[in-house]
Amino acid sequence: MKKYIDNLTRYEEDHIMARMREEAKRDHLPIMRESLASLMDLIVRSTKPEKILEIGTCIGYSSLVMHRAMNGRGQIVTIELDYDLSCRAREYFKIAGAANDIFIYNGDASEILGYMEGQFDIIFMDGPKGQYLNYLDHCLRLLKPGGLLICDDVLFYGMVANDKIVNKKKITIVREMKKFLEIISNHPQMNTVIIPLGDGVSISYKKEDKAEI
Ligand SMILES: C[S@@+](CC[C@H](N)C(=O)[O-])C[C@H]1O[C@@H](n2cnc3c(N)ncnc32)[C@H](O)[C@@H]1O
Repeated sequence: MKKYIDNLTRYEEDHIMARMREEAKRDHLPIMRESLASLMDLIVRSTKPEKILEIGTCIGYSSLVMHRAMNGRGQIVTIELDYDLSCRAREYFKIAGAANDIFIYNGDASEILGYMEGQFDIIFMDGPKGQYLNYLDHCLRLLKPGGLLICDDVLFYGMVANDKIVNKKKITIVREMKKFLEIISNHPQMNTVIIPLGDGVSISYKKEDKAEI
């Protein structure tokens, strides 16, 4: 099914994105698949966010997908642990003419999120998969009421939804991801859907107020 959907759901990359995809393939870097790029493009275009926070920049492909969909209307803050990757992303933001709209923090998201302030319309979580639950309280604090928390890879190669195929080395990540999905699916402040696109995407809407059904 994954292959079928990926073949149908193409994202029209510009020449910079196409170059980034080549580079990611060459260096075995995990940038978003085209089907998720299409979904993010659709969400950003239709919700018109002014501020987006991203956790996990890599070389900046997903930041540029969201930036393009914002159409010059807003700002992106993105966090990347790896120094070399953050430099490569910064270069791409310059080449794409997006450097004034995308601010990149180089460091550990668990530390940076702790001192971040402000309110974001969308938070895109695509960092270390075992840490999603640890980032959740910060994300809720930083997300506007009515905003969206979008998390990639929540089904983690199908292992989260199927106990039998759990790779022993990944068991802690799978356990953490299951806890995370249970919490966001039953959270009083959020409405969540989980979509089996790629390796699974969750989309949570932060309710406007506690009385909202
Ligand atoms: C799946 S990749 C992000 C891909 C990117 N969002 C895209 O689609 O183009 C995950 C990234 O998270 C970064 N990362 C891992 N641990 C991190 C941490 N503790 N804080 C911030 N970033 C981290 C990795 O270095 C990696 O580049």
